[in-house]
Amino acid sequence: MIVRDHFPADLYAGKTVYVTGGGSGINLGVARSFAALGADVGICGRTASRLESAREELEALGARVTTAVADVRDYDALAAAFEATRDKLGPIDVLVCGAAGNFLAPAEQMTPNGFKAVVDIDLLGSFNASRAAFEQLRETRGCLLFISAGQATVPHVAQAHCGAAKAGIDNLMRNLALEWGRYGIRSNGIVPGPIEGTEGMKRLGPSDPATRAELASAIPLGRYGTVEDIGQAAVFLASPLASYVTGALLTVDGGTYLPGSGLLAHRVRKAMASAGAKDD
Ligand code: COA
Ligand code: NAP
Repeated sequence: MIVRDHFPADLYAGKTVYVTGGGSGINLGVARSFAALGADVGICGRTASRLESAREELEALGARVTTAVADVRDYDALAAAFEATRDKLGPIDVLVCGAAGNFLAPAEQMTPNGFKAVVDIDLLGSFNASRAAFEQLRETRGCLLFISAGQATVPHVAQAHCGAAKAGIDNLMRNLALEWGRYGIRSNGIVPGPIEGTEGMKRLGPSDPATRAELASAIPLGRYGTVEDIGQAAVFLASPLASYVTGALLTVDGGTYLPGSGLLAHRVRKAMASAGAKDD
């Protein structure tokens, strides 16, 4: 892994990193980057089989691993998962709040419960995790990393729920930087661009290869991101190299959102129209 070429292999030796939603996609990529640099890792999610296969990958990188079937909307389940991790791996040094849900739905067709489901998982889930990990982070003078999204600042068609949830996460991130700095806890966020091979891209991105290539070529750096791109940013932000960085959002998107979301909006509308969604 590229992080091993650029950071000391023992940068996170003896450290415990907990990643909510760490069983797949970007979050698993982040967990892998920490494991590759010596961290022990805890992960949670709702699907046991996904967590077990992630465990195998992380153990193969040398990490000791805890897994917990826990829904981030359930505070007690998270608190229990963090306690069990503390018992096995030691107190949490880095908490990555990555669990999220998303789907495309125009606001006028979205049900209140659909909006709530995404806000509950993304925003409430991030607060639950931060709050449940607070005592451990205070003990380690650790740090928080929130996985945000461009939707938080750039409005996107059919993404009212995600935009609201992620904007809330960005604000929570800054608030915790403000309040918990005095405990030595840093709090930062990462804004990934479109990351290839992920569930998010599957749900939100175009499915036909020609459109995918066209959208990639519209990204200033000319390509979609990789889960390693996000892992690299995470291991930097949690490291002593970023010891005076708190309350910051690091955008890792190849410049995707510099031109706004107009092109994406056009593509999403077209894809939804051909799938039969009502949109005029
Ligand atoms: N379009 C419109 N509404 C949808 C939807 C879709 N594709 N999928 C779910 N909803 C609505 C449901 O209809 C329901 O609302 P209702 O009760 O008014 O009908 C509400 O969302 C909750 O659905 P439910 O299936 O009970 O939610 P859940 O808590 O089990 O799952 C989701 C959460 C909906 C976010 C689900 O997509 C999920 O689990 N996603 C996780 C993975 C993911 O999204 N990865 C990408 C991250 S970027
Ligand atoms: P993903 O693989 O679906 O990641 C989401 C993870 O969260 C899954 O492992 C999922 O596992 C878990 N999860 C979902 N709901 C949960 C809940 N209620 N409680 C506990 N865990 C839950 O999707 P991804 O695309 O890699 O996204 C990862 C993160 O990156 C998200 O925060 C997303 O918003 C952000 N992001 C993604 C992109 C992208 O291009 N993909 C771009 C910007 C931001 P279970 O379903 O098994 O619980």
